[in-house]
Amino acid sequence: MAEIKTIGIITSGNDAPGMNSAIRAVTRSAIYNNLKVKAIYRGYKGLIDGDIVEFGSHSVSNIIQQGGTILKSSPSKDFLSPDGRKKAYENIVKEEIDALIVIGGDGSIHGARIFAQEYDIPCIAIPATIDNNLCGTDTTIGYDTALNTIMQVVDKIRDTATSHERLFFVEVMGDGAGFLALNSGIASGCEEAIVPTIEIEDEQLHHFIQNGFRKTKSSSIVLVAANEKVGGAVHYADLVKAQYPELDVRISILGHLQRGGQPSAHDRIIASRMGSASIQALLKGLRNVMIGIDNDEIVYVPFSRAIRDNRAIDHNLLDILHNISI
Ligand code: F6P
Repeated sequence: MAEIKTIGIITSGNDAPGMNSAIRAVTRSAIYNNLKVKAIYRGYKGLIDGDIVEFGSHSVSNIIQQGGTILKSSPSKDFLSPDGRKKAYENIVKEEIDALIVIGGDGSIHGARIFAQEYDIPCIAIPATIDNNLCGTDTTIGYDTALNTIMQVVDKIRDTATSHERLFFVEVMGDGAGFLALNSGIASGCEEAIVPTIEIEDEQLHHFIQNGFRKTKSSSIVLVAANEKVGGAVHYADLVKAQYPELDVRISILGHLQRGGQPSAHDRIIASRMGSASIQALLKGLRNVMIGIDNDEIVYVPFSRAIRDNRAIDHNLLDILHNISI
């Protein structure tokens, strides 16, 4: 196995609060272990374009608390093609990068997996996405911050919902997964969470209106995970408006504010732990694994498992939400 002297660090795909904390941890742990760090700007696109700069310890000063990613991120269609990846590899050789640390979500890990297989370059992934939809880790960087952001916004929406006795449908992100909707729903005392992986449709909504909203409450908040197939908050609000014209229904789509803001303490801590573990993993000779946290222990998850498919929602959590919002 070739000795690793220089690592490349890249943030790819959609940003998540805490990515900067991870960049800092990777850079400083690498330097602490006498490795050189090359920062690749603008994701896989920057790898193809040769947008690469050497980082020192001070390059990552004063970023642990900043949202977004100082390395920027950009989608790269070219990296999906063998020609694009060939160019990326040529830059890896030119810059004498021996291993890559990829910080991102499922798309980024998918890209790392193909690249590692094609060019035999050691890759370690650090899971960073607000969606929390990777397998083999209890949580991903950015998820906790996004939960807190949603909770704070929903608290505000509740004030006006209560004043006007309204039913609000609040749409949150999730990329096909319902973790943000379900857990921010619990944290903000919502009456219902509609998640893509559980069939809800008209019947359950009807049940909620009859037994929850109509009977005991004069205002309610339903959290809806964005759902490209079904249509999200607008779809459900329209259903209710058509069936219950007497209800005062409003929609709030939270959008990209969920991706911004200072990372929470939890996200900074897991980003620091995972960043440091990524360097330890490389030094131990591990390759093509995602760093995870399982039961508060660092674990190494093979890429194929991490992106296998969307993690299942815990139905007990949905029961808890329902039982304590009566
Ligand atoms: O993966 C994070 C995420 O915020 C998803 O929840 C959402 O569907 C998507 O990114 C939005 O991406 P874009 O920034 O391209 O609109």
